[in-house]
Amino acid sequence: MTSSILLTGASRGLGRAIALELARAGAHLTLNARSAQALAQVKAEVESLGGQAVVLAGDVSQPDVVERLVAAAVLAFGRVDAVINNAAVLEPLARIADSDPVAWQRNLAINVLGPYLMIQAALPYLRKAQPGRVINVSSGAAVRAMVGWSAYCSSKAALNMLTQVLAREEPGIVALAVRPGVVDTAMQAVLRRAGREAMESQVYQRFIDYHRQGQLLPAEVPARALAALALKAPLRWSGRFISWDDPEVQALIETPAA
Ligand SMILES: NC(=O)c1ccc[n+]([C@@H]2O[C@H](COP(=O)([O-])OP(=O)(O)OC[C@H]3O[C@@H](n4cnc5c(N)ncnc54)[C@H](OP(=O)(O)O)[C@@H]3O)[C@@H](O)[C@H]2O)c1
Repeated sequence: MTSSILLTGASRGLGRAIALELARAGAHLTLNARSAQALAQVKAEVESLGGQAVVLAGDVSQPDVVERLVAAAVLAFGRVDAVINNAAVLEPLARIADSDPVAWQRNLAINVLGPYLMIQAALPYLRKAQPGRVINVSSGAAVRAMVGWSAYCSSKAALNMLTQVLAREEPGIVALAVRPGVVDTAMQAVLRRAGREAMESQVYQRFIDYHRQGQLLPAEVPARALAALALKAPLRWSGRFISWDDPEVQALIETPAA
């Protein structure tokens, strides 16, 4: 049975790489991000790999966008087997004392409310899948306090807890929070551009050095792990916060689908 997978934040970076990896694996894709043009480009890339994708541009923090996204997946493919909550923003990069409450709320709306809405809307379909899977793209920042990142750290910590509660409430669904590593995407460019003032200088410099020394992961590398988790993660892992390079996850990449 071909898997039908809903993926947010698919217009660039890690999300685009996950979409292409899933297309190579033959999954049916429903892709979202705000920029329609970039999404159309990714759809063309998926199709050039022989895959199928429907796209819907919109803000994942808006309930009507999320409802239309799930409806589009069901209309096109008749089912939803997995949701990958990948869309997120890093900003505001500011210390709590200096931060803008509106920007802070916006971060939480995209990074936490969005995944919650996606899960809620897709649940009736995920319950019918064998098993349904929710892959929440988290971060090391969920468990490490970073000066200047209060919104992002809080949002990813909340996403990890949302994952754990989902695992308890829905024992037939595999719910995972996944740490993708430090990845060479636009989000890292935002950090280098806007993080200097807010962050601790040695921490900021560490990220500058990762970039200069070519130590950021190409998106394709963690994307392989995330795609494998969306297609094959076993039920017994549900509730975990797991890293892309965990040996069990790396072994899963090589495991044939059941
Ligand atoms: N890069 C890293 O080092 C790193 C490390 C740890 C965790 N992560 C996590 O990995 C995931 C992917 O990030 P990335 O590094 O690939 O960043 P990115 O290049 O900035 O991509 C973010 C994606 O989310 C989409 N997006 C943002 N706001 C949205 C909204 N309101 N509604 C719908 N889509 C929205 C963006 O597209 P539009 O702008 O077109 O909407 C884009 O496709 C995120 O969850 C991030 O927290 C990244």
